[in-house]
Formats: sequence, structure tokens, C-alpha cells
Amino acid sequence: MPTASSPGGERGGRERRRVVIEQGGPVLVEGPVEIETPDGETVVSDRFMVALCVCRRSRRYPFCDTSHRKRVRSQDQGSPDRD
Ligand code: FES
Repeated sequence: MPTASSPGGERGGRERRRVVIEQGGPVLVEGPVEIETPDGETVVSDRFMVALCVCRRSRRYPFCDTSHRKRVRSQDQGSPDRD
């Protein structure tokens, strides 16, 4: 079972990777990383920090392209308030 401990520590001689779950996506993972997608493809990134898409809207899946920020406006949004 996982336990809470200080960030960036070591365990078993291996340095821990920090993973940050952003509200509404993405998941930020310290790189470099090797990612296996659900269809079996392996993708690598040597970036210092890698943003992984969890909303499935990214055109660069498995990487985040900020598409999670786009929202469809409802009818009551965007119209000026009237008194
Ligand atoms: S989490 Fe950013 S595009 Fe999906």
C-alpha cells in the first residue's frame, strides 16, 4: 500500500518520480518517460516535465495539447447580464 512521505526521496536506490495530477487534466510526470498507450504503442519523451492527456481530447495523445481547456459554451454563458 502506498504511503505518504517526503517528495523527491529515494527508495531501494531508485529516485522517485514526481507525478502531479492537475484538476481537469493533464497529469504532469517528470521526464524522461516511456509511455505505453492502450493500443500497445510505445511513445518516449526526453522532456524535463511531460504533460499526459487524461481527457482524451488531445490531438497529440498521449500528450496534452491543452485541448482540455476548451469548453462548449452553454446558452446562458457569454451573454451580457441584464437588469
Ligand atoms: S488533458 Fe490536456 S488535452 Fe487532455
